[in-house]
Amino acid sequence: MAMAFPLLALILSAAAIPLLSITPEDSNIIKRGTLFIPFYGTSANGFTTPPRGWNSFGMQALGNGFVLNQANVQAQCNLMNVTAGYTLCSIDSGWSGNGGDPFGRLVPDTSVFPDLTGLASNLHSQGKELGVYILPGAFSADADVTVQGTNIQLGSLFDTTQPSYNLRQTFDFGKDGVQQWHNSVVNNFAAIGVDMIKMDFMTPGSPDAGETLPANNSLAAVAYHKAIQQSGRNIRLDLSWKLDRNSVADFEIWRNNADSIRTDQDINNSGTGTFTSFSTVQRAIEQYRSFINQQEEDPTRQTVPIMVHPDMDNMYTGNAASLTGLTNQQRYTVAIHWFGAGANQITASDLTKLDTLGTELLYDSETLSVAAFTANFPMQPKNPFGTAQPGSQASEQLQAWIAGPDANNENAVVVLANYGPDQGSGGFGTSLQGTQLVNISLSLLGIANGQSNGAPGWNVRRVLGGGGQGGSDHADLGVTSTFLASNLGPGESALYKLTRSD
Ligand SMILES: *[C@@H]1O[C@H](CO)[C@@H](O)[C@H](O)[C@H]1NC(C)=O
Ligand SMILES: *[C@@H]1O[C@H](CO)[C@@H](O)[C@H](O)[C@H]1NC(C)=O
Ligand SMILES: *[C@@H]1O[C@H](CO)[C@@H](O)[C@H](O)[C@H]1NC(C)=O
Ligand SMILES: *[C@@H]1O[C@H](CO)[C@@H](O)[C@H](O)[C@H]1NC(C)=O
Repeated sequence: MAMAFPLLALILSAAAIPLLSITPEDSNIIKRGTLFIPFYGTSANGFTTPPRGWNSFGMQALGNGFVLNQANVQAQCNLMNVTAGYTLCSIDSGWSGNGGDPFGRLVPDTSVFPDLTGLASNLHSQGKELGVYILPGAFSADADVTVQGTNIQLGSLFDTTQPSYNLRQTFDFGKDGVQQWHNSVVNNFAAIGVDMIKMDFMTPGSPDAGETLPANNSLAAVAYHKAIQQSGRNIRLDLSWKLDRNSVADFEIWRNNADSIRTDQDINNSGTGTFTSFSTVQRAIEQYRSFINQQEEDPTRQTVPIMVHPDMDNMYTGNAASLTGLTNQQRYTVAIHWFGAGANQITASDLTKLDTLGTELLYDSETLSVAAFTANFPMQPKNPFGTAQPGSQASEQLQAWIAGPDANNENAVVVLANYGPDQGSGGFGTSLQGTQLVNISLSLLGIANGQSNGAPGWNVRRVLGGGGQGGSDHADLGVTSTFLASNLGPGESALYKLTRSD
């Protein structure tokens, strides 16, 4: 039943290249000027790619009896495919004790993780890495301990004008001793062999989840970043959740200290027997659209590296529809958008139950070669024909995205998508039913002949067809110098790799 519109396969000799013809829709947009090409560059703690791996939270929230403990985490992470780059074994909330060690440092709850150092070294011996989950601040109950290497009482560093939350107290970051405490925590993590720290409940931004959070604990990101720098170990810092990006000051803190930031709330379901649902996937994609537009549309950011990768929450693509909570087409859409965004590529699927599609979406080497490109050049939206303002970057049910092109306009990546009816948080608010044609010209994408990022023609390869109307995966479609189009069912996307043809 897959019926793809064939791309216009025009093989043009140089002499036959028509002048750029500007349709009425196009002329609107071309006035918007140059295509600004967002790029990540190197992140604050020195990484050039987003992390790829597995996180425990999906299974913790699933409500199927998964118990967070060392053996169960080890069993999942043993199955991560290192060849495909899945190296990070990220333990979520629930691994640590409800109080620190004699220096107030964060340590494992040994009833569930009896030998975290052993887990780390086992992972390292497989070429893998360990991630831990923390909250900003120290335990209120540790107020009487002395910060390691000092004679400063931990409690004297607390900012008691701020509420205690989740057993923690935030710091008065101006005080001598605060950085030393963070250094001691990270040095201990480094000694254990920790490779990534996910710090949740960062403000401004994080929803309170029933706690009264400190209004602004963003300086904890600075303190952990400095602590990582002095530790001598390469450790990633991921900040969570739904971090505020409206304040330039805060965004600059995230960007200059962390390697990735959560752009949305959790996309997991809770206790339903499925990992996620498409309504929250629509929301996560919409949050990414706003994230990348902020980079692309702000003149002060157009030529500087973004540095900090988006964390769109866990990438639930590995398991069958009945367990994932998404149709197979929607699973493609998650893979295509998480990779296309250069977002964190941390699945939380049950690695003991990958199906054939899940194995492809996680491990397919051609998809991962696209991900290597978008790890530096993330996709930005360009509205296709038939939307209110073709070529602009608005939220639309039918959407096109372009990543790159890179230097000399050699390579680019295009995504076409039909998100289906808005399920509440998609941002576009329309309910087009059934299969839709998604069609965009190269000039609206900014890569037509004569544009500064253009080329006379592009070889188009469909890397992922989306599992429905978009056509087969891994197919060469010929050369286009005009447009890209595909029929796509509700919730379906297709991923194309473009290489200049001349
Ligand atoms: C692991 O990933 C590699 C590279 O992407 C792939 O060729 C291989 O089939 C994968 N292994 C499994 C068991 O899926
Ligand atoms: C949060 O704190 C940081 C560091 O002090 C400051 O730069 C930023 O403006 C604050 N954010 C808000 C929204 O007040
Ligand atoms: C994700 O799971 C957590 C833990 O079960 C739950 O508190 C949260 O509400 C879930 N998120 C959604 C959107 O259901
Ligand atoms: C896509 O739009 C262009 C420009 O309007 C048009 O020439 C082309 O025929 C369309 N493609 C499809 C498959 O409808």
